[in-house]
Parts: sequence; structure tokens; C-alpha cells
Amino acid sequence: MCGIVGYTGEDDITTALGRGLEKLEYRGYDSAGVALAESGGLRVIRSVGRVAKLEEKLRGVVTDARCGIGHTRWATHGSPTEINCHPHLSFGRRFAVVHNGVIENCRKLRELCEDRGISPVSDTDSELIAHLLELFFDGDVISAVRRTAEMLEGSFAVAALHAGEPDVIYAFRRSSPLIIGVSPGRCGVASDGCAAEGDTLLLGDGQYARISPAGARVWENGKRVSPGRISGFAVGSHGTAGYAHYMMKEIAEQPGAAARTIESLSRRRLSGSLAFIGCGSSYNAALSVLPLAEHSARRGASAFTAGEFLLTEKLSGRGRTAVAISQSGETADTVAAAREAAARGWSLLAVANVPRSSLTRVCRRCALTQAGPEISVATTKGFTSQVAALAAMLARGALRDEVRRLPAAIEKALAAEADAETAAELFAPDKAAFFIGRRADVGAALEGALKLREITYIPAIGLAAGELKHGSIALIEEGTPVVLVHTDPALKDKTLLTAATVKARGGRVIAVTHDDEVAAAADLALRIPDVPHLISPAVSVVPMQLLAYHAALRLARDIDKPRNLAKSVTVE
Ligand code: M6R
Repeated sequence: MCGIVGYTGEDDITTALGRGLEKLEYRGYDSAGVALAESGGLRVIRSVGRVAKLEEKLRGVVTDARCGIGHTRWATHGSPTEINCHPHLSFGRRFAVVHNGVIENCRKLRELCEDRGISPVSDTDSELIAHLLELFFDGDVISAVRRTAEMLEGSFAVAALHAGEPDVIYAFRRSSPLIIGVSPGRCGVASDGCAAEGDTLLLGDGQYARISPAGARVWENGKRVSPGRISGFAVGSHGTAGYAHYMMKEIAEQPGAAARTIESLSRRRLSGSLAFIGCGSSYNAALSVLPLAEHSARRGASAFTAGEFLLTEKLSGRGRTAVAISQSGETADTVAAAREAAARGWSLLAVANVPRSSLTRVCRRCALTQAGPEISVATTKGFTSQVAALAAMLARGALRDEVRRLPAAIEKALAAEADAETAAELFAPDKAAFFIGRRADVGAALEGALKLREITYIPAIGLAAGELKHGSIALIEEGTPVVLVHTDPALKDKTLLTAATVKARGGRVIAVTHDDEVAAAADLALRIPDVPHLISPAVSVVPMQLLAYHAALRLARDIDKPRNLAKSVTVE
């Protein structure tokens, strides 16, 4: 959640910050702001709403600043108002800060500020950091940074300006990522690899840095250290490449993403007693591969949402592997669950798309998906790459050859777009919709429902098909769309019965299937190629992504940045 950017160098400062904020906007987008280090002092410009609104405000701003910091926010402490928007100034206007993360002891720190006669103006925890910097400043900013960081509990990535040094950015972090970009004559800082320019250095946990156009100096516990150089950050691939939205571009990128992922993991094996952990779509990916895991390992496997895993009775992990799944690698619940699993003795494997993310640092073993940067808040290629990665590591025998054919099958499934567009006409915001399936199709159905809910705001319910008659069927009336995923030939009779049950109550059945008979029994079919049921979710999800996309387009929704959401949820 939230994006941080900082720049110091010869480029026009508002353009440089705007460029970074645009790239980071997918991390949070309810307000944005910049602080400029002008010769006359620190100047803050903020606005509620999208980065474009801030950029409008910045156009025409006359400034002599060559250094600044910026932030795009997803509100946690305090509503998205201009006062709560970052950057925040300290009481004496000597420091400006932008912050990602959550300060857990913010009540205590607020009291500390108030005791010193400082009245915070915003509802945020972040503003307190600016005040602490100024309180601890005695002529040496680095020591003020160190003392401030020591006072903070929780997670933070902070970039700060000091009025006395108009070409310097200070940065410090714990648990939230921060990357320093270094190029000749100019440097920057960003909370995400996609906005870092030049050679990228990862500021380590607990480290703090002084960044000027001449380069970056980094300290830890009072001693100078060399930060880790990052390779493998997939920086490129920004821009929609002619597509109307990132989501559509990323849907189209799925065959390539799956192929790279499967290739890179072709020699890895995942076996033993497994528990999969993830949130949102990553949890749906876990559900999607559970039957495959049970089949391959010939023993039970389980899936937990990360939040629930944290709340389970102390499940001992001895002899068991926890597979923590996350596209971003920054989801707070998943990272916390991985830490907890390690503490309980589980062996850990991260399945993540972002190398050098918080999750990959917590887990000793990693299996990276190769989807490249995913910008649309609604994940598509992130999900299919996760399923492909897990299938590549779990499949045994002849199924391994079938896994290698998944990218081609995903490509074929993209051909369902015209039918998905027609099916989208059956969905309306005031009408509930269902997505149902059995075994591996449950994970795919839940993901189809999540995609539709997330970008159209239509109440879409994902269910195991057998559950429909246990209550939810009460919602089915004339015209209720029911997306029925069917990929397991052994379950055809059950699927046909479900279709008949839905139609008998006036529901409209949209089948996602390779099967002619099931397709004929439906009102509309989204055809997919015939792939083995156990690995099918990577393919069957595709028409449902297209369906959600076209339904959102019809409703003129903000597809890449749906309301209330952010790309990665870095708060628990
Ligand atoms: O980065 P992660 O995979 O850990 O993200 C987990 C969820 O927040 C994410 O999948 C979310 O549900 C998506 N926006 C769904 O499209």
C-alpha cells in the first residue's frame, strides 16, 4: 500500500517525481503529494485523488528545487483528506517525510509529542515521524534519523527531506521495502523496484541512508555499510503497450508468463506434507492446486488464508512444509504467517513474483514466478503463474508433460474473449452472480468471482457447486447469472444436474468448459481447451478474467484501479 519516491539531481523535479508517482500509483491512489527542497525552505503540495490531479496542481509550479520526495497513498490512519496526505511537515517545518507501513506505538508517540507541546495536525501515524526527527535533531540529521527509527515500533519505509540540505534525501526502513537508485549525477529512492532508476541498491532492514546527487551512503547501528546491489528487478514493461488497460495487457501476457515460470521451475519438486498459505487470489491459487497436491503427494494437503493461519492453534510444523504464496511478496498477512510458520518449525517455501521482496527474504527457499511486473490491481498473470509454478513443482509422471502444454492452452483460452464479452451483458450491479465448480474448479470459480467483484462491484459469490443448495440457491431468480466451471470428466453427471437445478429456478448458466454436452446444457459457453482437471485452473480462469474485464468496461469502472483497493496490502 502506498508508494514512496524521491529524486535529487538535475532533472526538473516535479517531472521526475510525477514520473515515479505514476509508476507507483497502483500501490495506492486515494491521495498524493510531494515535498520540494527549495532554497527558501520545504514546500509541500498535496491533493486528494489520483496522481493526475496532483500533476495538474504541479503544472505551472515555479520552483528552484532540485530535490524532492513524493507519495501516493492508500489510507489506513485517517481518511483520504489533504491534511492526512503525505508528505508531512515537522512542527518547525525543518523536516518533511513520506512513510509506508504502520507505526504500532503511534498512540504513545502522539502523547510524547503532545507532552512536548507539539499538536499533530493530521490523524496519521506518519506525521509523528516528522516531529520526532525535528525533536531529536541537534545539528546531525543522521543521528536524528537513528534515534527516530529506534523509537518506532511496527513497519516503516521513510524518505525525508531536511530544510538545511536542499539536495539530500534521508531514508530509513524496517520491514517495508525501500530501494535506492543511483545514476551519474542523480539519485533517487523508491518503495518499489518499478520506480527505481539507475543501479538499484536495496536498503537493508534497520539501515538508514543519506542520498545526494553524488551517491548514497548507508549506515547500520552507527557503522557505514555497503547496501546490497539488486539484480533481477523486472524494471521494464511499464506502459499499456497499446491496450486500453494494464489488466487486458496482463491477461494477454499470460501464456508467456506461464511458459517462463514452468521452464524456470521444471527441475523443482514439491512433496511431503504441505500447507499452502496466501491471501485473495493467492489463496485461490492455493485452493486450485490442493487436489493436485493431494494426488501427487498421496497425503492430505491444506490451504489457509494467511490471516487465519496466524490465528490457528499452534499447529506444529515438524516435518511439514508451509508454501507461502504471494505475487507481490509484500502482503503483510502472508509475510507474518511465513514468520509464524518458521517459528513453529515449518520448513518454508515462498512462491512469489517479486524477487528480493519481504516474503522472499523471510523464506529460505523460493520458487519465483516469472510474470514480470503486474500493475493492474486485479491480478491475472500473477494468478496463472502461481498455479503454473505450483503445478510444475507438484505434477508427477505424464502430468508433467501436460504442465508444459499449459501455456499453449492458456493462449487458446484467450479466444473465448468474444463470448466473454457477450456473457458480460448478463451481469448487472444490482443482481447477484454465482461462480461455482467442483474439486480443482472451486479455486478457479472463487477466483472468477473475486475478479468480477473486485473490478465491477457486482456481488459475485464463489462456491463449491455442491454447496449451492445449502442456502445460497435462495438468491437465484429469473436471470441470475451462474458461471459453472467444469473440467473433470468424472464429475459430468453432477455438473449437468447443477446446470438443470439452476435453470429450473430461472438462473442463466454460463459454462466454462471443454465438454460439448455441458456446453449444450448451458445458456452460454465459454470454451476452453481440454486440459487435465488437476492443472486446469490456470486455463479455466482465463475466460472469467475476460468476462470480468468486459463487464467492468460496460459499467465504465476504473478497471486498473478499482475503488477502495491497492495492489499490495502491506498492513495486517
Ligand atoms: O501480492 P499478493 O499475491 O500477496 O496479494 C494478495 C491479494 O491481496 C491479491 O491477490 C488480491 O486479492 C488481488 N487484488 C486480487 O485480484
